[in-house]
Amino acid sequence: MAKKKIILAYSGGLDTTCAIPWLKEHGFDEVICFSANLGSEFTPEDLIRRGKATGASKVYVKDLRKELADDYLIRGLKANAVYEDKYVLSTAYGRPLIAKYLVELARKEGIDHVGHGCSAKGNDQVRLDVAVKMLEPELKIVAPLRYWELGSRESEIEYAEKKHLPIKLSKEKIYSIDQNIWGIAIECGALEDLRNEAPEDSYMLSQKLEATPDTPEYIDITFEKGVPTALNGKNMDFSDLLETLNGIAGKHGVGRTDLVEDRIVGIKSREIYEAPGAWTLIHAHKELEAAVLDRETLAFKEVISQKYAQLVYQGLWFTRLRKSLDAFIDKTQEHVTGTIGLKLFRGNILVASRDTEYSLYKMNLATYGDEDAFVRENAEAFIDLYAMPFLEK
Ligand code: ARG
Repeated sequence: MAKKKIILAYSGGLDTTCAIPWLKEHGFDEVICFSANLGSEFTPEDLIRRGKATGASKVYVKDLRKELADDYLIRGLKANAVYEDKYVLSTAYGRPLIAKYLVELARKEGIDHVGHGCSAKGNDQVRLDVAVKMLEPELKIVAPLRYWELGSRESEIEYAEKKHLPIKLSKEKIYSIDQNIWGIAIECGALEDLRNEAPEDSYMLSQKLEATPDTPEYIDITFEKGVPTALNGKNMDFSDLLETLNGIAGKHGVGRTDLVEDRIVGIKSREIYEAPGAWTLIHAHKELEAAVLDRETLAFKEVISQKYAQLVYQGLWFTRLRKSLDAFIDKTQEHVTGTIGLKLFRGNILVASRDTEYSLYKMNLATYGDEDAFVRENAEAFIDLYAMPFLEK
């Protein structure tokens, strides 16, 4: 009889580590792992070693950082997408991309089952499942965490220890972590009690404010049609620029947020995030947009931005609506070209300079100096007409 195989989306974390032996105990002869390198702490060698040591027959690792950056993060940046004011959606962008490659690999290997280690009340199961269903409706999806007896992190750790599975004994015991180049998400442990301030050891990418440098750092970010193309005058590929910025802004304690968020399945959860580079880029991008976009486009784009963030969060990446919003957003970016100077200091991002050939800010209209070209006499007639619709007396 042919061997029953499954392709598992594998991160090397606790859930997917337990999933490998569990799937083999529950009807699968072979578990083939697929790991996307989106910029997490595990190296490809680590992942292959850990996956094999856990019982996978093969471990595919694919470096998808550039694809994540170019096809997902740049769109999110142009949209200024932020969920519930505090989450730049790092994890959420990764899921449809992982789904795309799970489907591709399943087709290539002729396998009709794909699996993942997402929690049964989390968002990621929805994102992965919806994306897989949209791309390949025939594939069967197996999500052990919806059924297995390992109902808590404690019981997973016990199971892993009993089976001598490779888990990292320190932080993995406490926190659940998801990381890519756009940011890092951390939950569980002491974070589950809203009365607790996030313990310092839960952060890993950014400096605590108490230890940030005493002097501010100035940086210049150059955009072309909404896409960052240079840092401090040096042309860089977007994903390299982002990774460099994570280092610079992280050193100044930029980009930490602590959010009680609304999950797709209806519950509220608390997560802390670090996204130094992403917040810096969004800040700079909005500053540039403020200078080059007219007020109606800006205001309408705010609405689109909210909707975009919801779609990404809710796993609706491959939908017609998301693509349509992108078409609108791309049109708005035609003049989003120029350089924004920022000052990073003790967790703050402050704008220092704006330089763009498409500026709608006209100094001769804004100035209170001698060069003033604003026709002051027009103001009275303008206001008469402007107020007219509202006059009830
Ligand atoms: N809450 C975030 C989201 O839904 C992150 C989820 C993963 N977090 C984690 N710590 N493993 O996108």
